[in-house]
Amino acid sequence: MIPTESTNKNRIKNRVKNRIRTAAGFATLLMPTLLSGCGSSTMVQTETEASDGLISVAFSEVGAESDWRVANSESMRTTFTTENGYEFYFEDAKGKQENQITTLRNYILQGVDYIVLDPVIETGWDEVLEEAKDAGIPVIVVDRMVDVEDETLYTAWVGSDFQKEGEMAVEWLETYLEEQGRSEEEIKILHVTGTAGSSAQLGRTAGLENGVEAHENWEIIAQVAGEFTQAKAYEEVSEILQQTSDIDVIYCENDDSAFGAIQALEEAGITYGTDGDVILISFDATEAGLTACMEGKLNLNVECNPMHGPRVEEIIQQIEAGETPEKTQYVEETWFTPEMLTGELIESRGY
Ligand code: AHR
Repeated sequence: MIPTESTNKNRIKNRVKNRIRTAAGFATLLMPTLLSGCGSSTMVQTETEASDGLISVAFSEVGAESDWRVANSESMRTTFTTENGYEFYFEDAKGKQENQITTLRNYILQGVDYIVLDPVIETGWDEVLEEAKDAGIPVIVVDRMVDVEDETLYTAWVGSDFQKEGEMAVEWLETYLEEQGRSEEEIKILHVTGTAGSSAQLGRTAGLENGVEAHENWEIIAQVAGEFTQAKAYEEVSEILQQTSDIDVIYCENDDSAFGAIQALEEAGITYGTDGDVILISFDATEAGLTACMEGKLNLNVECNPMHGPRVEEIIQQIEAGETPEKTQYVEETWFTPEMLTGELIESRGY
């Protein structure tokens, strides 16, 4: 729901009232996690801090599967601070949609001012988002998208154009092979996919599959589930390398899975990167990913920017000011090859 000026005013008027209810409820709901001192829940608020007129922002994060994800959570945490006027709630879903649905229901019950959702996968959100809409709580979707019947179930989305990222990788590969005089050669691609059904996987996979369809001599020899983690990618790529080493390109859907592929290639004694036999393509352009690229271990790293905290804050501030934020906001992104990188450039990017 895009809040109107009057729903906005009512929400702001009710904020202090809600806050008292919110704090008591949160204390009850999250107490076991807090007392045990472990688990993913981070309750930034306590009951005594409750009635200070801050804006409560409740975030449901995918998990902690990758360096990118850690940077994304950090960006949210450092944006929604008390000093900046917020009470911030954070829940790590550990990669499970059912955890996110439970978290969202808790946030709704507590009457938080804003829900921020980074959905593990795209589908299955209609019911819980309907509940948030009925409660008059704006939901801002970030990074990955939701695929819902009724688009008014969320207020705005900000994130990457994942298919465009895949297309950039394909375009780069086409040019690179041309430069190498290999544009007519048979090109065998091993595809290491991310979390099935997530926007990042769907978009990057579509980019590659369309590229393969457009090139008769390109072939995806296997698609394995790297799940955006180094461990799973290592396991899957190792298994493939036991069957064949006839691979020209490994297309890894994020940096962590590229590290898993590197580990498997090294163990199998297969060379890769700028001086090797296998062309390695990755996504994210995290500090570690770009460092590997600068060292020539990755031939290409396509950017996926995780610094969404300030972008989400801008949307919230627009709503607070009674404005209607743009519904769909794509982040501008680029790509990197080894010769484009320096230590200073990598350091300046902040993740
Ligand atoms: O949704 C963004 C993707 O999720 C990033 O590419 C990946 O590293 C993360 O886990």
